[in-house]
Amino acid sequence: MSKLIGRTNSESAKIQTLIRDLITEVGRAEEAITTVRPPQDDFAAQGKRAFDEAGKYRGRPLFYPYMGTGAGRGPYVELEDGSVKLDLINGIGVNIFGHAHPRLREAAIRGALSDVIMQGNLEPNHEYAAVGKKLVELASRKSRLKYCWLTTCGTMANENAIKLARQKHTPAKLVVAMENSFAGRSQLMAEVTDNPAYRQGLPLHGEVLRIPWYKKEDPRSSETALRKLKEHVAANEKNISCFMFEPMLGEGGYRNAPREYFVPLLEFCKEKNIAVIVDEIQTFMRTGELFAFETLGFGEYVDICTVAKTLQTGALLYTDEYNPQPGLVAGTFSGASSALAAGLESLKMISEEGFLGPQGKIMRIHHEFIAMLNRLNETTCKGLLQDAGGLGLMIAVTPLDGSKDAATKLLYTLYKNGLIAFSCGRDPYRLRFLIPAIVDSKDIQLAGEIIEKSILELA
Ligand SMILES: Cc1ncc(COP(=O)(O)O)c(C=O)c1O
Repeated sequence: MSKLIGRTNSESAKIQTLIRDLITEVGRAEEAITTVRPPQDDFAAQGKRAFDEAGKYRGRPLFYPYMGTGAGRGPYVELEDGSVKLDLINGIGVNIFGHAHPRLREAAIRGALSDVIMQGNLEPNHEYAAVGKKLVELASRKSRLKYCWLTTCGTMANENAIKLARQKHTPAKLVVAMENSFAGRSQLMAEVTDNPAYRQGLPLHGEVLRIPWYKKEDPRSSETALRKLKEHVAANEKNISCFMFEPMLGEGGYRNAPREYFVPLLEFCKEKNIAVIVDEIQTFMRTGELFAFETLGFGEYVDICTVAKTLQTGALLYTDEYNPQPGLVAGTFSGASSALAAGLESLKMISEEGFLGPQGKIMRIHHEFIAMLNRLNETTCKGLLQDAGGLGLMIAVTPLDGSKDAATKLLYTLYKNGLIAFSCGRDPYRLRFLIPAIVDSKDIQLAGEIIEKSILELA
């Protein structure tokens, strides 16, 4: 039987060799990227122009004077001003395998050789089905999740998740969310997000009820949250559609909570027929297991789970009971062909190559990074890097006096000295890292040197 042209192309040894040669050639030049370096005189003007223009056309400057050239290597990235930075935020959690990973480049090139750039829900290519299948296979190992719908970003995954819950429990409308939660930037997600600065001038629709997040210093914290949930349910009988939460507070300060905090809340939701939606948009692939609901051991309670970022596209996973009526979720795009191919490759890499589990690469990086921060806090930066913690590759520490001003100054000082991080939380403001899963001890040592130097410049 003759072969389909698409298969012939993807299995062709000649095309394979051409792709590999291309990657080797591009990678050869990138071998020069080995560590951080300051902006170079020859490129300073060009870098400034690129940065200024980006700000000019979007109406406000970029947060950092960052404009990538498209080259990088591992955790290092080359910028238009000739500098090389140690990137420990990777696009706010997108590039978990760092920059220019050859396997992901190869997958993305294969995707880019597709007949179409963007795939959609009406006329998908084979990557669309492969991503859904792989995600469901992995998610269903420790949950009842059975179906997957691709979306273009995390916010759309969350929007769809709430639609599924509301349709199933119609006419129940309200959403229970955590204090200090973050859920995305649409109208509804701006309301689920507990940060008034992100919805200035927007009307509130009164659709969200809050319960307090776990406080490790308060032994009654779990009880308080459960009591609050019960009060909401009593006051809004049959009008609560879902409980939507991050398994670890992300933008809200990188605060984690033990399984014992979640389980009574989830049990109560089950009892009251309230959908349990876990927003794993930031935690997915990062907490030591593939899903944080596995790390925390509450997969059996999950009705709907949303992911994005590291997947290179968005997705929502749901159980049989939450499979919506036709027409409720759709949309033109499901993702770029190259993004879907790279997302699929990322799923294979993270689940098959020693990254997961208590002894996996992610947890080894976690322990080494936390130890580095604690060491600085106890020695040269005494008391200036407090409360280091988080899950897996999501790590934060409270720097200096924990004020917004000090944290912002520190971010820019780190950036000047070659390290890219970001902040999270409020009162205190925390220094946050989304560490790529490919850093080694030498990179962590360099991060420590830059953090130490930057703190001492400001202290
Ligand atoms: C927990 C969480 N939910 C939702 C979102 C929104 O995802 P996106 O920016 O892809 O729309 C984010 C993004 O940072 C997130 O961290």
